[in-house]
Amino acid sequence: MWIVESTRNDTKVDIYRKTIWPEISGNVLELGPGFAASLKFLAHATTSDGSFHVDPNVIKSYTVLEPNPFMYSRLQGNAEANGFNVNYDRLSYPDEKMQNTVSPSPGMVPFKIVRGTLDDADDIPKAVLAQAPFDSILTSFSLCTVRSPETALKNIQALLKPGGTFYFIEHVRQPDPRDPTVVEDNGVDAVFWGKVQDWITPVWRIIGHGCHVNRRSGLTVAKIGGWKVVDYKSVRPVIDLQSRIMPLSFGKAVKADD
Ligand SMILES: C[S@@+](CC[C@H](N)C(=O)[O-])C[C@H]1O[C@@H](n2cnc3c(N)ncnc32)[C@H](O)[C@@H]1O
Repeated sequence: MWIVESTRNDTKVDIYRKTIWPEISGNVLELGPGFAASLKFLAHATTSDGSFHVDPNVIKSYTVLEPNPFMYSRLQGNAEANGFNVNYDRLSYPDEKMQNTVSPSPGMVPFKIVRGTLDDADDIPKAVLAQAPFDSILTSFSLCTVRSPETALKNIQALLKPGGTFYFIEHVRQPDPRDPTVVEDNGVDAVFWGKVQDWITPVWRIIGHGCHVNRRSGLTVAKIGGWKVVDYKSVRPVIDLQSRIMPLSFGKAVKADD
């Protein structure tokens, strides 16, 4: 399902993703990367061998936390195409076959694939805890699927450095017609389509591998508190019927200083 869905992302959603992703820097964690659609929007530079790859002066290390091994081979391929030096966390994913596929000509920035989630504070993989605290944590279209967005967001915040930044783009329940974060309204009937989202979510969850189309993820980011800045926008793009069901919120939240 995500092979089809991610094609839509490339053509219709990435215009929003690319407005914030180039800011991501330092020691980075990505939750639920899937096939790694985000990597091409990180800061890139021409490296010493003349290739155009992720900029090692901006991105120092990259850890991904992905529960679904079906994603790993494309994830690895995309990471290597962006100049990362991929390795698998042996503790959470002791699969010799995949360990042996890692690139023989490593890139400059380490990229660790860890199997797991942030669904439970007591079950965060050791490889993630060892790499924390992070300068930047990002997620795209994963808060719709996590067991509890509040718990995942609290775990994200705990893994960030003070002053570190959480970047997100998520599909959300239609924001209220007067919601000040809406910058692209396009006359969509938010009340009607919000109800449609509520009606279809029980079935959508089953066919969409746990995806909820009626979560207010932007609002949830703001509501958990503990941030010194929360800055996000919402759009109801007129693209197709699917976008009535998947308006977007995207932006960032900066963790408060100690
Ligand atoms: C809709 S895809 C988005 C993939 C990618 N972030 C993108 O923007 O193309 C959702 C991703 O979240 C992952 N996922 C599912 N349940 C999760 C959970 N509980 N915690 C973290 N990620 C999860 C899925 O395996 C999948 O890779």
